Amino acid sequence: MNESEFRALEQSCKTCRACGLCKTRHNVVFGIGNPAAEVLFIGEGPGENEDLQGEPFVGRGGKLLDTMLEAVGLSRKHNIYIANMVKCRPPQNRDPFPEEQDACAHWLADQIAYIHPKIIVCLGRVAAFRMISPDFKVTKQHGQFFEKNGILYMGMFHPAAILRNPNQKPEAFADFLKLRDKIEEICDKTTLVFD
Ligand code: URA
Repeated sequence: MNESEFRALEQSCKTCRACGLCKTRHNVVFGIGNPAAEVLFIGEGPGENEDLQGEPFVGRGGKLLDTMLEAVGLSRKHNIYIANMVKCRPPQNRDPFPEEQDACAHWLADQIAYIHPKIIVCLGRVAAFRMISPDFKVTKQHGQFFEKNGILYMGMFHPAAILRNPNQKPEAFADFLKLRDKIEEICDKTTLVFD
């Protein structure tokens, strides 16, 4: 896939009607960031703010994510890409149903194929179950790297979970430091940016 095909993929995703979530969405949230990045973050699915703005992680959880990213020299503008398991908001922020995830999976698979990341960070249980292992335990296994098909995967606490449970913040931040160290070790095209 070349750059214009990736743009065409986004346009085509924006017209997707493969599952019932299309009926209640305001916007399809395809993803944001640098598609040439070596690090891909994957969340669960858009919430209310994301649905209204068409961009992942723009609510309170998104602000927290940006703060932790910035502290280790990462940003959605420069050196990462952020996507979700499902591209349309599940009503009342419920977990996306397995059939909705199945219907949406090919968009993410194509994003991964194009971006070709060295590291995939799964934000929360829904992404970690599907991308790392169906018995992934975020509380026990967050911050660990798992290698699959030449890609390193790490599960992290979901920002919304950290907001609900702020005493997880130090552990969550320690994961970002581990991520930064791994990026410095293996991502030779990634420049960490500090303002
Ligand atoms: N939660 C997610 O998992 N993804 C978003 O884009 C926003 C909130």
